Amino acid sequence: MAIRVENGVFQLETANTLYQMKADAFGVLNHLWYGARTDCCMDYLLDYPDVGYAGNIYEAGDKRTYSLNTLPQEYAAYGVGDFRIPAVSVTHEDGSSALDLRFQEYHVRKGKYGIPGLPAVYADENDAETLEIVLKDTATGVEVVLLYGVIAQADVITRSVIVRNNGTTSIVINRAHSLCIDIPYGDWEWVHFHGRHTMERQVERVPLIHGIQESSSTRGTSSHQQNPAVLLCEKGCTETEGFCIGAALMYSGGFQTQVEKDQLEQVRLVMGINPDTFAWTLEAGACFHAPEVILSCSEHGMGLLSHRFHEIIRNHVCRGKYKLSGRPVLINNWEATYFAFDEEKIEKIAKQAAELGIDMMVLDDGWFGKRDSDTSGLGDWFVNETKLKGGLGRLVERINRMGMKFGIWFEPEMVSEDSELYRRHPEWAIRIPGRNPMRSRYQLVLDMSNTEVTEYLYQVMSQILRENHIEYVKWDMNRSICDWYTRTLPKNRQMELPHRYILGLYGLLERLTGEFPDVLFEGCSGGGGRFDAGMLYYCPQIWCSDDTDAHERTFIQYGTSFFYPVSAVGSHVSAVPNHQTGRMTSIRTRGTVAMAGSFGYELDLNKLSPEEKEEVAGQVRAYKGYQDLIYNGFYYRLSNPHEENRCIWAFVSKDQTEALVQGVVFRAASNTLRARIRLAGLAADAEYRLTESGHVFTGKALMAGGVLLPVIQGDDVSVEMHFRQVQQ
Ligand code: GLA
Repeated sequence: MAIRVENGVFQLETANTLYQMKADAFGVLNHLWYGARTDCCMDYLLDYPDVGYAGNIYEAGDKRTYSLNTLPQEYAAYGVGDFRIPAVSVTHEDGSSALDLRFQEYHVRKGKYGIPGLPAVYADENDAETLEIVLKDTATGVEVVLLYGVIAQADVITRSVIVRNNGTTSIVINRAHSLCIDIPYGDWEWVHFHGRHTMERQVERVPLIHGIQESSSTRGTSSHQQNPAVLLCEKGCTETEGFCIGAALMYSGGFQTQVEKDQLEQVRLVMGINPDTFAWTLEAGACFHAPEVILSCSEHGMGLLSHRFHEIIRNHVCRGKYKLSGRPVLINNWEATYFAFDEEKIEKIAKQAAELGIDMMVLDDGWFGKRDSDTSGLGDWFVNETKLKGGLGRLVERINRMGMKFGIWFEPEMVSEDSELYRRHPEWAIRIPGRNPMRSRYQLVLDMSNTEVTEYLYQVMSQILRENHIEYVKWDMNRSICDWYTRTLPKNRQMELPHRYILGLYGLLERLTGEFPDVLFEGCSGGGGRFDAGMLYYCPQIWCSDDTDAHERTFIQYGTSFFYPVSAVGSHVSAVPNHQTGRMTSIRTRGTVAMAGSFGYELDLNKLSPEEKEEVAGQVRAYKGYQDLIYNGFYYRLSNPHEENRCIWAFVSKDQTEALVQGVVFRAASNTLRARIRLAGLAADAEYRLTESGHVFTGKALMAGGVLLPVIQGDDVSVEMHFRQVQQ
């Protein structure tokens, strides 16, 4: 049993980790431990100092040492004497906000719980267990149900929360975080992922300060600017050594991660829907379901933690036909043509791509409505026959006849004011009556909480998918959301819209991915503006960034790799000078970087020289040969591009018989030693032959001494070394 309850102690055991909590004599649920398996009750670490200005619960009588403000709480509520960041806060009918949560009961079940309307980790009945702990505020009857999913073999624990109003009057939930974890001891740093459009998920690792640090989004999406995933690392933790905890929120809307170091150096981490863009009225008898957090920890550094997240996302989050399989190598016309194309141009690009071994033509923005620029047309999901003479069906057929699959772009959640849809249904756009809306990329956002809107989108999209042989959909979303207001809710409940928007989005995605299981859905939001575990439940890959510059991409993909698997990372070779940075890099370097992802091209291949075309054909062959290793092997970060003059990574097969080292050396230097790189994840006692030179090394030598990189001439030079175990 992964979940055991002994003497009031709840133990969640995975192959290598242990999570413990216990309700004390007052019914307060204390967090005891999250870390390595100790085979011991960890409550001896609880301390009861008499700290000035710490309040004491009434039943503690004269015990000044018993305080919610100093004890590690499993799920901290607002208003009853724990002055640290709360996980939950509500307003009752009488205007008060206290929530005194005490242990009520628990249930253990086989299998993993699901969450109505929200994505969640799934597992076979025998591979997971669920623990449900009910906490209750007796004065009002409000209950909080803590949900724990234990996927023991994956070393993962999931958490979610249900707020149940068992009282007789309605309440307003001001915050209902999915995760609250208290860590009383240790010297901690946190790692979060910040960025901007075309430069997502930059790694920032900083010590905790006294007070609260935050990483969050109020944009209606998980955002380019911060990512809903975070690491807490003990000081000195590296890729291979030291303890760290990782948490990833399965949610694609505004989120909040806060980490607090309190007066006693204790750490609290909370994570969930951003309370700044959230309030939820809960009628008597109703329930609210918070999204899920995926939690894992590692005693052997961040590399192992990443593997655990990669595995859980690939095996227990992503779904559908393409979840574990290879993906088609695609050519996308966006950077090749932007809006200026017709069927001839597309067919010409496809023909050249087919000759070079590429599997699928993806028609990006501009194929529908009046869409010659980004100022019009969104919402009109019918083909633009001025551009595509003969219609979509004919184009798809012609591409299919070349032996290629066909994929298409949608931006379902948006509407242009200059569109037939907006002229027909201006009331479907999110805007506040009496105010001008904020426009962004000239467009407005559709109210995804309105079922008329989602029904319309379902009808038009499913019709196109039904009538044409489309095998891939790129689901884009190109702006942040504000002006929150919906006609579907009364005025005192407007702040439910941001979450209801996400529920509407997930509902539509569920319906379409369910009805078209053979279609590969790729998520996108101006590149990686909605790159999160929630989206990966519907789309096994996400366009990683609108920045296709190979140099900058190494940084973006480096940050992305901490939580998200390589198979989830859409990555393309584009033209030079690069359209975002003007940088020149060789076709080889661009290929190497794009191969660390779901591989494709995004340029007019007809414009390449014969040598470059040959290189492309070679890359496509190489990628197809390596795809199993790249997707199913373990991914190792072998250098940190923020600190070193290179970004090098490796894929090592799970049976340790093969390793592919790839990367980019940024700047050449004269009169110096060659760079040395240490490998990881090999079998120490095995021998490995470097394919390129035939040289044989021991696994031990490659991991301890490393290997010298080739002599580098020029900047942003690609490195590739392939090792195969020598069979004894
Ligand atoms: C976004 C996407 C791009 C492309 C354009 C089309 O920016 O990230 O890949 O699809 O939209 O408008």
